[in-house]
Amino acid sequence: MQRLPASATGMAVITIFRLIFSSNLMNLRLTQKTDLDPIRKVIETAFSDEEDKVIVNLVADLLSETTTPPIKSLVTEIDGEVVGYVSYSPIFSHRDAGITGYILAPLAVSPYHRKKGLGSKLIDEGKRMLSEDGIDILLVYGDPNYYGRFGFRKETAHSFVPPYPLRYPFGWLGVLLSDIVVGEIPMKFDCVTSLHKPELW
Ligand SMILES: CC(C)(COP(=O)(O)OP(=O)(O)OC[C@H]1O[C@@H](n2cnc3c(N)ncnc32)[C@H](O)[C@@H]1OP(=O)(O)O)[C@@H](O)C(=O)NCCC(=O)NCCS
Repeated sequence: MQRLPASATGMAVITIFRLIFSSNLMNLRLTQKTDLDPIRKVIETAFSDEEDKVIVNLVADLLSETTTPPIKSLVTEIDGEVVGYVSYSPIFSHRDAGITGYILAPLAVSPYHRKKGLGSKLIDEGKRMLSEDGIDILLVYGDPNYYGRFGFRKETAHSFVPPYPLRYPFGWLGVLLSDIVVGEIPMKFDCVTSLHKPELW
């Protein structure tokens, strides 16, 4: 058998190592401000041309806005490359309803890495993190066919009145994270400044 030169053997070993592990090196972590550029790439490939500029600006705003309680966001990486992103921001009730809540927005996974459960991980980890913080409800404005998989229901969200009229009211959904009972009285709330833009609703 012909022997490969040492350097070629080394390259072959590295290539095989990469092939074996490339699909396994998934990492989920809190976002840092320096993640904006890689997240921008995910957004630009995940959303349509009409939507992506608005969403990229939203991500930049969310990463730089400071609130109490804090905006929390996560990225998933595969082999060190950011391929998914989600942000969770607090809501502020107009009256003291004794309920704490967050909004999930936006969520995106690169088209090259979809259907591997990355979107689910970003949502499940967000729900876990917020439950641990004692948050009562998580709201989202999105596709019921997708978010329904994670327990989001329109009945749970209907008492929560967003800051702007909704273009797609059927997409307004919520999931309870605690055993709190949500009353029937409509509860107006404000969101963080980054989301306080009529074009996002
Ligand atoms: C929605 C999104 C984040 C899902 O990411 P993902 O990593 O592929 O999600 P998961 O792997 O956890 O789940 C994939 C499953 O959800 C389904 N799914 C994805 N989008 C869906 C939708 N809008 N309605 C119903 N099902 C949907 C997929 O068909 C797949 O189904 P399967 O498990 O039966 O194969 C991704 O498709 C995306 O970035 N889309 C563009 C941006 C977007 O729409 N963001 C959310 C706003 S509603």
